Amino acid sequence: MTQAREVMIRAVDLSKHYGSTRAVDGISFEVFRKEVVGFLGPNGAGKTTTMKILTCFLAPTKGDAFVGGHSVWEQSLEIRKMLGYLPEDTPLYRDRTVLEYLEFIADVRGIERDARRAKIKNMVEVCGLGTVIGRVVGELSKGFRQRVGLAQAMIHDPEVLILDEPTSGLDPNQIAEIRALIKELGKEKTVILSTHILPEVQNTCGRVVIINQGRLVADGAPEELQARLEGAHYHVVVEKSDGNAAALKGTLQGITGVKTCNQVEAPEREVAFAIDTVGQADLRRELRLAVEQNGGGLLELRRDALSLEDVFRKLTVSDDAVEARARAAQAESKQGAADNA
Ligand SMILES: Nc1ncnc2c1ncn2[C@@H]1O[C@H](COP(=O)(O)OP(=O)(O)OP(=O)(O)O)[C@@H](O)[C@H]1O
Ligand SMILES: [Mg+2]
Repeated sequence: MTQAREVMIRAVDLSKHYGSTRAVDGISFEVFRKEVVGFLGPNGAGKTTTMKILTCFLAPTKGDAFVGGHSVWEQSLEIRKMLGYLPEDTPLYRDRTVLEYLEFIADVRGIERDARRAKIKNMVEVCGLGTVIGRVVGELSKGFRQRVGLAQAMIHDPEVLILDEPTSGLDPNQIAEIRALIKELGKEKTVILSTHILPEVQNTCGRVVIINQGRLVADGAPEELQARLEGAHYHVVVEKSDGNAAALKGTLQGITGVKTCNQVEAPEREVAFAIDTVGQADLRRELRLAVEQNGGGLLELRRDALSLEDVFRKLTVSDDAVEARARAAQAESKQGAADNA
């Protein structure tokens, strides 16, 4: 049996309000020791705000968060010691050279003089800073500034790393390098990284926490979210005949397990539907029978697995957008019925 896993980070009903904006709205989650967790969400979801709370840069409006058992309210000093943080906009001292800056950070972090040289050398190697060590930070390209940011986050060898969009601004080669680095780090450290890039979580994270409008909307392994959370997607194409589209759409929509059925663009003399289902059950037979009952000629019936991208989109489109779409679909089907009458 595996041992009970140790919780390294715990957020309990965490909220942060800015006036009437609920940047973070009652989020709870746990991260275990040596886990790499991806924080996924669209712009403004509350990722950075949550990370600022965990790193004690911002006090929550409500709730609590614990890192290594320490509360952000009461033991921020202990928390800061055990974590490294790569902020979204790395506030580097822009007029220092990379070496001077890392020496300064080592000093702030209380690293002994004897150990300092070796630690800096190691960071320069790990983050690929050898060619820019004597350059002024403010004159570096965005990608290299990001690497310096990573070096400052890791120089004191913290147990926990909080990385806010670690690959933003990097070129594809650097992205691959940093992803490999994070994967490697995950063997020894607990890591939370935020991103809107899906391949990032798919390749580097064992678990994904999806947040939207300050709320947690999903929490699980990437493949789990894909398989468990959502239904399937079908594509149905039939031969066009007079007035059959609206009636067929109604029939398809009535099948148990069908969540939405939308008519989509199709070549002349064809009618196509995109169908989303609630569960994982195979509905191909039911869909075929429905088409036949309507006297339509079935041209194509395809079942697509949902990608993590679909999952993300479904979970993070705003309720307003969903409602607007539902209203539009209703109006459309009424219109279709009227046309048929
Ligand atoms: N200092 C602030 N004052 C007022 N509102 C703020 C402040 N900081 C953030 N917000 C608001 O809080 C919400 C969450 O912002 P946050 O930066 O946490 O999102 P994010 O998920 O990191 O987005 P992004 O992907 O764009 O980085 C947004 O609506 C934002 O406008
Ligand atoms: Mg952010």
